[in-house]
Amino acid sequence: MKAVIYKGPRDVEVKEVPDATIEKATDVLVKITTTNICGSDLHMYEGRTNFEPGNIFGHENLGVVIEIGSAVERIKVGDHVCMPFNIGCGFCENCERGLTGYCLIANPGSAGAAYGFAGMGPYKGGQAELLRVPYADFNCLVLPPDAEEKENDYVMLSDIFPTGYHATELAGVQVGDSVVVYGAGPVGLMAAYSSIIKGASKVMVVDIHKDRLDLAEKIGAIPIDDSDGSGIEQVLALTDGMGADRGCECVGYQCCDHKRHEVPNLTMNSLVQTVRATGGIGVVGVFIPEDPGAADKLAREGKIAFDMGQFWFKGQHIATGQANVKAYNRKLCKLIAAGKATPSFLISHELPLEEAAKAYKNFDARKDGWTKVVLKPGM
Ligand SMILES: NC(=O)c1ccc[n+]([C@@H]2O[C@H](COP(=O)([O-])OP(=O)(O)OC[C@H]3O[C@@H](n4cnc5c(N)ncnc54)[C@H](O)[C@@H]3O)[C@@H](O)[C@H]2O)c1
Ligand SMILES: [Zn+2]
Ligand SMILES: [Zn+2]
Repeated sequence: MKAVIYKGPRDVEVKEVPDATIEKATDVLVKITTTNICGSDLHMYEGRTNFEPGNIFGHENLGVVIEIGSAVERIKVGDHVCMPFNIGCGFCENCERGLTGYCLIANPGSAGAAYGFAGMGPYKGGQAELLRVPYADFNCLVLPPDAEEKENDYVMLSDIFPTGYHATELAGVQVGDSVVVYGAGPVGLMAAYSSIIKGASKVMVVDIHKDRLDLAEKIGAIPIDDSDGSGIEQVLALTDGMGADRGCECVGYQCCDHKRHEVPNLTMNSLVQTVRATGGIGVVGVFIPEDPGAADKLAREGKIAFDMGQFWFKGQHIATGQANVKAYNRKLCKLIAAGKATPSFLISHELPLEEAAKAYKNFDARKDGWTKVVLKPGM
């Protein structure tokens, strides 16, 4: 099969590798029809994780089941399925509680497994023609009859739509709330979209990229252009100086100042400043336990200088982490099926798998107009 292989920092190649196969009786084999590139792939692509050369990328996967293991009962050959990026076993203590992003079985010795992901187990990614799906009865979301027609919407159920929604859950967004979202990448746009779906009264999205801010505005959010460094002032001006009720961090440890220099504590401290006293902060942007490639010493050890005093004084709360995709994907699928959500609005490019290297390069550069790339093996 053809697959997108990580060769080293900022270097990927599409090449022939051995076919994915059924390895356990509980697996299914999926022929991938759509697989996305994610901001999470970029941390690995840039060589800022321990992702090993030779690994296959891809954790946002959708396709058709072509073979089932002997112990699979629910999933059938021919089912159109979308897989959460997290792999859960379905029966461990965390999976039982719906915390499938922290499965204790799928990645022994750690908590949380995923396809094609640094530190998340041995599972190959789905930016390929075929994908092995473990614990398939648990992990596959079988899509409605309009699966092919709305494929570009349903594929967002693999990660960014549930992840954006998760940010709003972690922050505690409720009807009528004002919300500030840092990052107008795909995840930030989905957090804004989810806030709007939940009935937020005012949603502000901060970034420096005009093309991405335009998308935020298109869905009904207020774009906050921080390219002159005035983002915090703008948010405070829009919230009577008090700050928003809720805030979402959708950038992560590689966040930058308006001059595009990495300042790893910037978004977290901006949230403390721009969320009101007693407000909630949800952090889905990735922070990692160590970052040997970082410029400053604290960041190399996975630490940031955090405004603990202000945070405590304001009585805010923070919740963090990987999205438990399975906790939301079925509900959000119903919104798509009913025509009440169309997350495909943020797709900028639909490309054959063979063009992955070009796609990574441009998406990584946040080149104007490259918001979200979906790759189509067989296109
Ligand atoms: N928790 C999860 O389950 C989960 C799932 C998917 C992605 N993620 C993470 O979410 C983050 C965003 O993903 P994405 O696909 O949207 O990535 P992305 O890199 O395309 O988007 C990030 C955006 O943040 C902007 N940004 C940078 N510094 C900023 C700052 N100081 N203030 C405001 N905006 C700033 C960038 O300009 C960019 O548009 C990444 O860290 C990714 O790894 C987490
Ligand atoms: Zn992703
Ligand atoms: Zn589990």
